[in-house]
Amino acid sequence: MYKWLLAVLLMGVVFAACNSEKKEKQTTADTEAQWWKEAVVYQLYPRSFKDSDGDGVGDLKGIISKLDYLKSLGVTAVWLNPIYESPNDDNGYDISNYRAIMKQFGTMEDFDALLKGMHERGIKVIMDLVVNHSSDEHEWFKQSRSSRTNKYRNYYHWWPAEKGKPTPRYSLFDVNHDAWMYDSVTNAYYLHYFSRKQPDLNWENPEVRKEVYGIMKFWADKGIDGFRLDAFQFAAKDTTWPAFPVGYEKNFSLYYAVGPHLHNYLKEINTEVLSKYHVMSVAEGAGNSFKDAHDMVDASRKELNMAYAFDAVDLAKKDGYSVIKLKEIFTKWDSAFATNGWLSIFLANHDQARLVTRFGDDSPAFREVSSKMLSTFIMTMRGTPYYYNGDELGMTNIRMDKIEDYNDVATLNEYKHLVATGGNIPQFMDNIKFSCRDNGRTPFQWDNSTNAGFTTGKPWLKINPNYTTINAAAQDKDPNSTLNYFRALTKLRKDNKVLVYGKYELLDKNNPNIYAYTRTLGTEKWLVLLNFSKNNISFDVNEWIAPKNTPELKISNYKVDKDEQTRHNYVLKPYEARVYKLSY
Ligand code: GLC
Repeated sequence: MYKWLLAVLLMGVVFAACNSEKKEKQTTADTEAQWWKEAVVYQLYPRSFKDSDGDGVGDLKGIISKLDYLKSLGVTAVWLNPIYESPNDDNGYDISNYRAIMKQFGTMEDFDALLKGMHERGIKVIMDLVVNHSSDEHEWFKQSRSSRTNKYRNYYHWWPAEKGKPTPRYSLFDVNHDAWMYDSVTNAYYLHYFSRKQPDLNWENPEVRKEVYGIMKFWADKGIDGFRLDAFQFAAKDTTWPAFPVGYEKNFSLYYAVGPHLHNYLKEINTEVLSKYHVMSVAEGAGNSFKDAHDMVDASRKELNMAYAFDAVDLAKKDGYSVIKLKEIFTKWDSAFATNGWLSIFLANHDQARLVTRFGDDSPAFREVSSKMLSTFIMTMRGTPYYYNGDELGMTNIRMDKIEDYNDVATLNEYKHLVATGGNIPQFMDNIKFSCRDNGRTPFQWDNSTNAGFTTGKPWLKINPNYTTINAAAQDKDPNSTLNYFRALTKLRKDNKVLVYGKYELLDKNNPNIYAYTRTLGTEKWLVLLNFSKNNISFDVNEWIAPKNTPELKISNYKVDKDEQTRHNYVLKPYEARVYKLSY
């Protein structure tokens, strides 16, 4: 704890020193150009993207039919959520065969065609690598649970019941949150940090690691371009199973992340696979401190390229969030990677409710402008943007009323848990309308035909009824749509390296409504102004811009009055975003 506090204070001092606008010499962090730094990554949730065969579930042929749409977005990489064989307890995050495609999604031939089609369009493919755990239906686990002497026994963590109950561990998804599941076949408990159908693999066993490297090579040999390491910060366990303090589950990550040999495993992954194939790598989770994050992604350590930190996405709550805090978080992370390492920028993914509902305002009056403003933010920050499918349309939370309509294993088990323990169900039902992951997983809204053009069958998850007005076909035709605005943003980022590599500096950090920053590369300086509120807010840039400067407006989600540009004293409309190139 103490070290963490010290690190934060130190970064604060460093940041304050760097944040002076007077400072002339602009240094760019980690200037070595890399495709994955310049990439715009589009996260595609295959189950919900496009169904080609009418079974109500999205599939690979469906994605293939939309390759030109992906190209039209201007994204340069696609991260596919898991497409491997899986009983779907956690929608593909429980893998029963790492070298096969989930039947509902198609075949390996479909995958090869998909990869080829992406590459032909200049889009790289990043695969989800889920190896903290497998499915309990994986052959390894079937063997492992069959007898204590089976050669796969040590592929997982087992605790013999005759030794009594194991040291408590918290499970995120289990009905009773106990991560040790009793299995009568061998009178022992196995460990599962997620659902009981997701037993944790034993990374301490070199055989397991060898298997994983084999799997990674299998996909790398096919020509994929990167891996996203799912929940990998939890892979290394202290197998002496020390007791954690009471209430540890409230800070799960502090006790579970970056276990004893994690960095050795990451180095091994790099030596055995990543370095040989030049594929990019990004970890879900960045540990608990800058040091943890750095150690994972500092190029000189030869581990990974990037990691995601969750502080920002965790900030949005039902009753709002502090813009000052949001600025603090992004600024803190930027300063952490000011000289080496690289970061990921995101505000939404398949584990979160919708971007505009959580961070913007999805009411009819502000949905479009606030979606555009948030997209502007994601696409003008330093770091690689990860942009979640459907956000380019400004898709919103569906807010389902009935528990029967939900699919997410975490939500359904928590509901059962609350029923069993007499928890507050009405409050829970109210909360999940805002936060449940299913909100971000409703099928993609292609057009206003039946089922939003997603499927001709019965969709696996309800479709948001607002598809009749919020859909890709309608937005494609409208030059002012959120979709076309997103396309303009990807182009802007690709055409202007200052938005990729330029130094980031926060302006007016205590302003509770406006997020303003500059990006500077060499002699080029850009200014980004974002109004995070639903009110008109005046913002005077004179303090930061030389009086003679005539900023050139590069993009905005409103029509901007020409005069204003020379005045430097702007009135930003609700959720207005403006990006200026400054002439120096
Ligand atoms: C990651 C995934 C999430 C999944 C969990 C278990 O957090 O993003 O969707 O449920 O890992 O694999």
